[in-house]
Amino acid sequence: MLGLVVLGNWFTDSLQQNFRQEIESFAERVSQDFQYEQQTLETQIELIANRDMLNQAVEQRDQSLLLQVLLPLKSILKLDWIKVIDTQGNVLVDLRNNSLSQANLLDEVVTSTASRGAHLVDLVNVETKQQVLEVVTNGIKSSAGLLGGIIIGKLVDDTLIQKIAEGSSKQLIVHRENRVVATTLLVAKDGTWEFPHPNLPARQITIDHKNYLAKSIIFRGVSQSLTTTVLYPTSLLEVAQWKLWTHLGLLFLSGSSIVAVIGFLIAQTITRHLQAVTQVAQRVTQESNFDLQAPVTNQDEVGILAIAFNQLIQQVKRLLAEQYEAKQKLEFYSQTLEEKIEERTQALRQKNIALKETLQELRHTQSQLIQNEKMSSLGQLVAGIAHEINNPVNFIYGNLKYTDDYTQQLLWLLQLYQKHYPYPETEIQKAKEEADIEYLTEDLPKILTSMKIGASRIREIVLSLRIFSRLDEAEFKTADIHEGIDSTLLILQHRIKHQSSRPQITVIKEYANIPKIQCFAGQLNQVFMNILANAIDALEEAFQNGLCSDPIIRISSTQVNENVVIQIADNGTGIPEAIQSHLFDPFFTTKPVGKGTGMGLSISYQIITEKHGGSLQCVSLPGQGAEFVITIPIR
Ligand SMILES: Nc1ncnc2c1ncn2[C@@H]1O[C@H](COP(=O)(O)OP(=O)(O)OP(=O)(O)O)[C@@H](O)[C@H]1O
Ligand SMILES: [Mg+2]
Repeated sequence: MLGLVVLGNWFTDSLQQNFRQEIESFAERVSQDFQYEQQTLETQIELIANRDMLNQAVEQRDQSLLLQVLLPLKSILKLDWIKVIDTQGNVLVDLRNNSLSQANLLDEVVTSTASRGAHLVDLVNVETKQQVLEVVTNGIKSSAGLLGGIIIGKLVDDTLIQKIAEGSSKQLIVHRENRVVATTLLVAKDGTWEFPHPNLPARQITIDHKNYLAKSIIFRGVSQSLTTTVLYPTSLLEVAQWKLWTHLGLLFLSGSSIVAVIGFLIAQTITRHLQAVTQVAQRVTQESNFDLQAPVTNQDEVGILAIAFNQLIQQVKRLLAEQYEAKQKLEFYSQTLEEKIEERTQALRQKNIALKETLQELRHTQSQLIQNEKMSSLGQLVAGIAHEINNPVNFIYGNLKYTDDYTQQLLWLLQLYQKHYPYPETEIQKAKEEADIEYLTEDLPKILTSMKIGASRIREIVLSLRIFSRLDEAEFKTADIHEGIDSTLLILQHRIKHQSSRPQITVIKEYANIPKIQCFAGQLNQVFMNILANAIDALEEAFQNGLCSDPIIRISSTQVNENVVIQIADNGTGIPEAIQSHLFDPFFTTKPVGKGTGMGLSISYQIITEKHGGSLQCVSLPGQGAEFVITIPIR
């Protein structure tokens, strides 16, 4: 609406502008027409003035000839006035049309100009009448010189300006001093009007209640001038403006209607398409179905919206897929991480176990080293003592025979003396009685015999000590198991025999006929030593606790297939089931601190299983003693 008003105003303005331009250009044209009229007059006067006959007539002052020449010309050229004068200003002929016949022309200026043969263009007023003539003058010359002058004129009347205004909707008013001289507008004839000044732009004036846009132009002669006002009825402008506004109104109405209808239709279409898109959007969010697509029916904005929306759905779908994939990856990574952690944990556990095993092994090794060192020291000590005792014992044992012989000889010599000298000197008799020779003779051989036994026993012990220590038998070689057990028993003899706190332990040997075996004899002796020492400990404890009154150790040997089986049993305390599985653990002991290290069985187990490829088992019932079964392959 506002646009239309602005447009209307713009059109109105340009219409007015057009009117003004039109009136300006029309005024220009009128001016040119006046000039044309003037030029026509000038041409005509040239034609007339140069006619020979005219020269001749003027020269001769022949009025009838002049009339003869001029009348046809006046008629042909439709001139209103022709005046010929001589150089003195005398009128030779003055031809006028009817309306001017009685008029008094105020033509002094032009007449005197013409008499001088000059050429000018001017206006001539008709006295008392509102008539004006447009005139031109020219000289009439002959070869002899100036003969006179001629004036021709045309009335500036209604006919003239009607001719000028012909075919135009504009009106013309020629006036002077606001008095109308000639007009195409008859109603303006009688009246005085305020015409616009020629130098000013067109302005509106009212004539006979009608509005006109008026523009004045001036037509100048030599002595005076004449103003012509061009009138352009503003009714035309008003009509044009009315039409414009009517059309604009109609345009507005029809435009509004069309716009309303089109708007309604577009709104309908858009709404329908938008609803379709909205429904799809709602379904997408409700059903989380990103395969749905909004229908794209055309390529308008809604179509573009639908395409964009579809792209958005696809984008969301893709993003969701990516998110899902990322989640899966994350889960996978987390799973992998867990697995890796589990693997690492497992590896750490394995390492831990390996470390524990290594530690265990280290402890074993350490304990073995300690025990080895212990046994080695013990072995060396035993071997050293055995060696040191061996010589003196051998010396004693070797000399005992001679001692016995010498004693026998001495005793025999004494008997000979008693036989041959039954009554010796008193002193001898006395000494004989004091010495109790009879008893001495009787006892000395006995003493010697017991000394022999003692020395022999010492020799056996020394031998046992040497067998036990086996320092010379560190490598794998054939040995007699029974010999090893016996030497061990000999070393433990001091513990086996009767003690103040308990009776002697009975050792029952049930040796079978077993072959010698391939073994580390010294190490096997350590095993026998440990098992027998434990048995003695258990028997002592049992006796002290009143569990066993007759301590017995039973040692038996058998051959089972390719193995030698040694069983060492006691009737001591026995071993509770709960601790049986720990017997062979290093450092496992039930004995008070300082008494047991808990290494005996552990080392024994290792020696039997690892060094000899055999087995060591314990069979025990609490309160019924314990039995250790050693199985060693014979090889
Ligand atoms: N014959 C047995 N009767 C009852 N218990 C036994 C017997 N032999 C071994 N045990 C038990 O087994 C444990 C371990 O014996 P092991 O010889 O390894 O160590 P220990 O005798 O305590 O100390 P040591 O290192 O000085 O020998 C003993 O402390 C004891 O409790
Ligand atoms: Mg022990």
